[in-house]
Amino acid sequence: MSTLDFEIALSERPTPAAERDRILADPGWGRHFTDHMVLIQYTEGKGWHDARLQPYGPIPMDPASQVLHYSQELFEGLKAYRQADGTIATFRPFSNAARMNRSAARMAMPSIPEQLFVDALELLVRTDQDWVPSTEGYSLYLRPFMFATTRALGVNQPADEYLFVVIASPSGNYYARGIRPVSVWLSQDYTRAAPGGTGEAKTGGNYAASFAGQAQAVENGCDQVVWLDAVERRWVEEVGSMNLVFVYGSGAEARLLTPALTGTMLPGITRDSMLKLAPDLGVPVEEGRISVDQWESGCASGEISEVFGCGTAAVISPVGHVKGPDREFTIGDGEPGEISMRLREELIGIQYGTRPDPYGWVH
Ligand code: COI
Repeated sequence: MSTLDFEIALSERPTPAAERDRILADPGWGRHFTDHMVLIQYTEGKGWHDARLQPYGPIPMDPASQVLHYSQELFEGLKAYRQADGTIATFRPFSNAARMNRSAARMAMPSIPEQLFVDALELLVRTDQDWVPSTEGYSLYLRPFMFATTRALGVNQPADEYLFVVIASPSGNYYARGIRPVSVWLSQDYTRAAPGGTGEAKTGGNYAASFAGQAQAVENGCDQVVWLDAVERRWVEEVGSMNLVFVYGSGAEARLLTPALTGTMLPGITRDSMLKLAPDLGVPVEEGRISVDQWESGCASGEISEVFGCGTAAVISPVGHVKGPDREFTIGDGEPGEISMRLREELIGIQYGTRPDPYGWVH
């Protein structure tokens, strides 16, 4: 697919190097942004046009822009990693492009040529390459997103104008306290997604709808919320904004189970990477389903030895303790498990180029 020529307008006031280095030393997560952003417009009948790189800053919006009223919006998340030799690589960017287009179909939004999506990322990373941290475990988080800009309050049809934007944010560890296992609350009052809904689209509304459940988890003394299925309220779906993986057994006998994608779950790229990576490390993986009762009894019998959430932002986040209105239990000894940590090391190794990449994931 041919792509567009980008108009380039570099910032006349980029962040001074000393200030940038100060930020990169302790970037936190999602708080700082690089000097530039990429924008591409879409108009029905005309397609994608006016691709440009410009200084990072506010985007003028009409107050009647459809996204502000009806939430036609999508986003993606991926990272650029500083390799040992100083070069920079992203991880599976075409998978993000493909997922954005699947989300777009559900949200009645235009698809974007995958090559154009990746060209936009590359342009921003190349321009702001000094913002890719060199500290171990740190990266440049890339946030492509798309939203409806049509000035209209009618709700009978999707918008006919959109803006695709990419911004970048130097990122440290998603959890400030590192990889201590999280405690999770089994949400009863709220569900994240229902069959036929938008659960498998990466659209902002799913995340807006999660805040009340997350707040309830915190009220109950937990770090994160676990989402159960909306129909029977007993099948385990996701944790916070991550996919869940259950480890059965240990050592050479270990195997993984992750909830199958039923249409209500986000098809995580880290999840997909686990499905491919784990079997190659001798850990078989099954996509299936697990109820809360099975989770609890599996922990009681010791059959379930580890549980972790996985996503781009946090990579692998062990779950140590589970709480609900009528139950409470600990997984293993509540410490990060051997299999979780090994998978994490392997994946991070591929991302930072310290381990071979037989999958062609590194770009
Ligand atoms: C991820 O795990 O990468 C996510 O999607 C979380 C993000 C919304 C911060």
